[in-house]
Amino acid sequence: MTNSEAQLADGLRRITRGIVKSAEPMSRHTSFGIGGPADIYVEPADGDDLAALVAWANGRGVPWCVFGDGANVLVSDKGIRGLAIRMGRPFRRVRTDGQRVVAGSGAKLDKVVSAAVEAGLSGLEQVAGIPGTVGGAIAMNAGTYRGQVGDALERVSVVTSDGARCQLYPEDLQFRYRWSIFQADQTKIIVEATFRLEPGDRDELVRTAQSVRRRRSLNLPAEGRSAGCIFKNPGGDQSAGQLIDQAGLKGARVGDAVVSDKHANFILNMGSASAADVRALAEKVRETVHAEFGIALEYEVRIVGDWQ
Ligand code: EPU
Repeated sequence: MTNSEAQLADGLRRITRGIVKSAEPMSRHTSFGIGGPADIYVEPADGDDLAALVAWANGRGVPWCVFGDGANVLVSDKGIRGLAIRMGRPFRRVRTDGQRVVAGSGAKLDKVVSAAVEAGLSGLEQVAGIPGTVGGAIAMNAGTYRGQVGDALERVSVVTSDGARCQLYPEDLQFRYRWSIFQADQTKIIVEATFRLEPGDRDELVRTAQSVRRRRSLNLPAEGRSAGCIFKNPGGDQSAGQLIDQAGLKGARVGDAVVSDKHANFILNMGSASAADVRALAEKVRETVHAEFGIALEYEVRIVGDWQ
């Protein structure tokens, strides 16, 4: 740890009531189990605490990025400069309120799905089984073959980089396939989401959610560590997984990073893969698919941190 990092951590400890750690390995906080140290890792204590620490960082020109469960990110081996803000335990509350479900951005999406279906509320069962948090799922507009998270959203409560709070609505968020405004505008942090649902038959909803989860566990790899699909599906009805499979890339390997035999759009960390291994393998996949089919795949996983 450098002097300036130590000063930064000390300054931040005076601002936040949350957890602050210096040089925290991000491999502890990502589903890939990969990622170098964040200069400063912080878990804010609540929304006001988050607002205060973001305003503090902005006032000092300290960069920051936000994580939920780290389920859809590839963090570089060199780690993260500035702050890695983790939406942890204080942001995990889930409650139903009539036809609405209100969830903290750090709640696991699948728990929110369960709360909705148990309450006989329909609209989220189509996204059952997706790993990660509510905040990450909204930012990515995560989805399955049945639908996407944005479909059922009524509003989100956010903190902005100057420490202000505001509400945003679906018309502000520009949801489309695996995309929302949060990917372009990284000055806003989701704190809470309200989903507006329809009354439905509880038993049928439970069955639907189970069948969506079952299909996921049948089709997607269970071994190794991953961040879900590595590339977006290209337009039309083409599947990135199918293209990668047809290009003969199942089992392709760089170091301990391997293209899954079960679903070719998954790159697995089989134990000690580095971020550089995963990225080199992903680039090889991209080049091969481009050479075979003339299609340029785009990353679905967020590539973050210091790659220089
Ligand atoms: N396929 C192959 N080989 C493979 C993988 C798939 O031939 O290695 C074929 C399948 O047989 C099927 C078609 O490709 O005919 C589509 O496959 P699948 O049903 O698995 O759907 P996908 O388009 O590959 C999308 C999402 C997944 C989501 C599934 C199921 C993207 C990038 N992927 O995959 O989401 O779980 O549908 O709903 O949109 C994720 O976003 O991280 C993710 C895993």
